[in-house]
Amino acid sequence: MVLLFAFIGSAQAQLKTPSVSAIASAHPIATAAGHEVLAAGGNAFDAAVAVSATLAVVEPAGSGIGGGGFWLLHRAEDNFQTMVDGRERAPLAAHRDMYLDDDGAVIKGLSMNGALAAGIPGEPAALVHIAEKYGRLPLSTSLAPAIRAARDGFAVDERYRKLVGFRLKQMQKDSETATIFLHNNQAPAVGHIIKQPDLANTLAAIASNGRAGFYSGDVAEKLIKGVHQGGGIWSQQDLDEYQVLERQPIRGNYNGIRITSAAPPSSGGIALVTMFNILSGFELDKMDEATRIHTIVEAMRRAYRDRAEYLGDPDFVDIPTDKLTHPFYADGLRNSIRLDHATASSNLPGVVQNSAGQDTTHFSVLDQEGNRVAATLSINYPFGATFTAAGTGVLLNNEMDDFSAKPGAPNAYGLVGAEANAIAPGKRPLSSMSPTFLETDDRLAILGTPGGSRIITMVLLGALEFAANKTAADWVSRPRFHHQFLPDAIQFEAAALTTAQRAELESLGHQLKATNRQYGNMQAILWHKANNQIEAASDPRGNGKADTYKH
Ligand code: GLY
Repeated sequence: MVLLFAFIGSAQAQLKTPSVSAIASAHPIATAAGHEVLAAGGNAFDAAVAVSATLAVVEPAGSGIGGGGFWLLHRAEDNFQTMVDGRERAPLAAHRDMYLDDDGAVIKGLSMNGALAAGIPGEPAALVHIAEKYGRLPLSTSLAPAIRAARDGFAVDERYRKLVGFRLKQMQKDSETATIFLHNNQAPAVGHIIKQPDLANTLAAIASNGRAGFYSGDVAEKLIKGVHQGGGIWSQQDLDEYQVLERQPIRGNYNGIRITSAAPPSSGGIALVTMFNILSGFELDKMDEATRIHTIVEAMRRAYRDRAEYLGDPDFVDIPTDKLTHPFYADGLRNSIRLDHATASSNLPGVVQNSAGQDTTHFSVLDQEGNRVAATLSINYPFGATFTAAGTGVLLNNEMDDFSAKPGAPNAYGLVGAEANAIAPGKRPLSSMSPTFLETDDRLAILGTPGGSRIITMVLLGALEFAANKTAADWVSRPRFHHQFLPDAIQFEAAALTTAQRAELESLGHQLKATNRQYGNMQAILWHKANNQIEAASDPRGNGKADTYKH
């Protein structure tokens, strides 16, 4: 009887469609662009095209059509799910040692700044693919808000100024970048309007000609010419050969919550499932807070070790996905955790840990049919390579820095590894981007965040909030801590650990390292299917906008 009731309840939940649509993104203009396209008859996939392209215009520090990303899609009518992989590829002229000097040492900054740091962009191809395969509207409609924002301009805010602050010296070195994104060669004042007419024309070319508007013809010629002038190595063959790929998302389960997340070349889904599998053997809710944090940190440490050892582009390396996501494998990892002592990372088999870039962006969309998108997009460091191909408005990524510039060589600790993520022509660099769905019979979450190598642990902490029945506002605002195997320290926001908890963690053998500032910019949606209430929340650390709308 109880079972039957549960089944009916669950079936009713499945039949419901959301009472409103919801969008959470890192910029109010991008959130408005998504709602505009939904109001024009589009679905969540059209809205995702609009939000992605508009973020490329109004949040140029985080993502852009010169970059790439992962779009996790769920189509309601048949429960079809896929991950659209629009990750950048290494140029065909790239090679394993391209960032090393004659002595084999890494040349500082070469994979970070300038045209040589740029992979072949995937975002334009991904937007065309999503619009044509999953959307309802022509690109001329879904790209219209982005084209308008590029032509009319957007107002600089404090966050933009802060991100310029990180990259000012490099931005000043490229006159095209400085002209577009600075004012009198300095960080523009709050309220200054940034107009991007060249980018508007490039977006209009994509709207009219689809992928050919970017990967061939006038725009492609200017991209290649600009890249070569900037010391880069792109060719027309690179642009012709770029392909969007669809990949099976990574799936797992934690205490009845179904997890769907990013597949390689993102490390996010596998690392998340490994951590959840480890944690499912502990009763976290029965632990005191310091023990709970210790236990979560030990799960993070082990998953990040495996990330560095095994993960890379699945089209180039064999990834033991089944093993890494299997509960039996997690049993072994869990058995090595001691509740009374931290495991030194040096006591686990060692590998070099490369860190992913700090910027990037995430947005979440739910439409009233129940279609949904979680998308994390990047040009890597703030303002990417700080290089704009003249006449295109396209700010290039520095995603090549997500490769291991020097795998196999002993690092300062005498550790070797990261071979799986070595540079090779046409290969996609390993990412941490983790767009994620969490689902129970009566609740659904869509979430993700920027934040480089800390992305995965932020999504883990957000998901644990979901597991504890907290609100979406709680997940995006909760203070954060992180461990990534190396460096062997718990990184934490000041509010994440009390003085007593810090002392207790230190007594367990952990090293603590407070982050200088808060990190992440989570954008989340929560649908309570039972009462059809929908929450949308944008991280208070950023200035994004999350809202719901009845179309
Ligand atoms: N560039 C950040 C990432 O892909 O993880």
